[in-house]
Amino acid sequence: MSNTVFHNSPIGVFDSGYGGLSVFKEIKKELPEYDYIYLGDNARIPYGNRSFETVYQFTKECVFKLFDLGCDLVILACNTASAKALRSIQQHDLPPGKKVLGVIRPTTEIIKKYTITNKIGILATTGTVKSESYKIEINKFYPEIEVFQHDCPFWVPLVENNEIDTEGARYFVEKDIHELLSQSSEIDTIVLACTHYPLLLPVIKQFVPPHIQIISQGPIVAHSLKNYLERHPEVEQSCSKGSTLQFFTTDDASGFEEKAEIFFGHPVKASTIKV
Ligand code: DGL
Repeated sequence: MSNTVFHNSPIGVFDSGYGGLSVFKEIKKELPEYDYIYLGDNARIPYGNRSFETVYQFTKECVFKLFDLGCDLVILACNTASAKALRSIQQHDLPPGKKVLGVIRPTTEIIKKYTITNKIGILATTGTVKSESYKIEINKFYPEIEVFQHDCPFWVPLVENNEIDTEGARYFVEKDIHELLSQSSEIDTIVLACTHYPLLLPVIKQFVPPHIQIISQGPIVAHSLKNYLERHPEVEQSCSKGSTLQFFTTDDASGFEEKAEIFFGHPVKASTIKV
């Protein structure tokens, strides 16, 4: 008799709310064969203006919920959680055989290929900007790159409330882009370093000069995950392949289902879960 133990381990994808669905959509497109569980902490969103300790605590609880649900590998598809909690979880909290990855490293390690002037703009939540994670990570790889940051605290609520094509959205996006670009006339690349911002892309493009590239992280994170799984066969082999998708939220499931479609591109069935 074979001693093989069949381990059903979906890949966990975590975000503070809906935004991570924009990243998850790209992961699923790039790697459709795996099982996935998405968990949105909608009851406690936003994370973007919370303290380091709170983001760490909330993120840890959600990551451990995904471990309890059978995930061996969890992707923090949230910039604020990646900026404020990833390193602590990796260093102090991981049980044997469990892995957690974030969205900042995949973006920063390839950023050089987008810039000629070596001047990069980062748009993110207040928490991500204050953490300086993008500056630190980019300069680890490319000390010659100058990083300019600006936080956009109104963009997440605009997207969460589906106020994308509105006067209010245009007002805040124009103001924030202006505040970023006025820091240097040489910025040639802008990273949308928050899961929600790609949803505002049609508005953002109206206020960014055409010679400046705008980077959304979804495809970059998906590609980097593919590479990671190729380089780590022991992790890859523990991920089950049945192409199933499960969605959990810490808030009302029907509300989640209604809005999730905007981010994910098609309807989803969700369940409420306590963390
Ligand atoms: N998911 C968060 C991020 O990417 C944005 C929403 C929030 O503030 O919780 O930073």
